[in-house]
Amino acid sequence: MDSADVEPDLVNILFTEEQIQTKLRELAAKIEADYAGREILIVGILRGAVMVMADLARALNRHLEMDWMAVSSYGSGTKSSGVVRILKDLDTDITNRHVIVVDEIIDTGLTLSWLISNLASRNPASLEICTLLRKPEALQMDIAVKYVGWDIPNEFVVGYGLDYQEKYRNLRDIGTLAPHVYS
Ligand code: IMP
Ligand code: MG
Repeated sequence: MDSADVEPDLVNILFTEEQIQTKLRELAAKIEADYAGREILIVGILRGAVMVMADLARALNRHLEMDWMAVSSYGSGTKSSGVVRILKDLDTDITNRHVIVVDEIIDTGLTLSWLISNLASRNPASLEICTLLRKPEALQMDIAVKYVGWDIPNEFVVGYGLDYQEKYRNLRDIGTLAPHVYS
């Protein structure tokens, strides 16, 4: 779906499909350089990271393994609850593996900081985070994120995997959701 299809619902288009692809190629190049000679396992956080995983994985010109986790931290609204539950765990044993967690957005950071300490306790060889977006003003946790696409203002955004009540994930661009949609 294109931005034009949901134009009244968006305040603006933050990043176009093309800008997103360019950014992912840049991130992939950094990852390739940093992990030369090491096997990597990229872990996507369902469901929001599906698009980032699909495009980042294809931008990486090397072998990799992919696995998925599903956690719940949000209700159906637009605010983080801070309560994290594993809905689907990894199928892979990450002991001694080089793991990169791939997420689409870090908002408060509550979900990811919980997830990172959970994964760290499984003794991976290394553990880093790659996120397409981050909201620095919303951050409540001190998380070291090695790969960030863009820092964005503290507004609710949709598209490219990001949803509002399960909608807009299939929007090609990323846009700011108009307040009239959720108020
Ligand atoms: P956090 O725990 O507050 O960092 O947020 C965790 C999850 O909330 C993210 O992985 C997203 O799935 C979702 N989320 C946070 N901000 C937004 C947003 O602006 N739009 C859509 N989903 C969001
Ligand atoms: Mg998510």
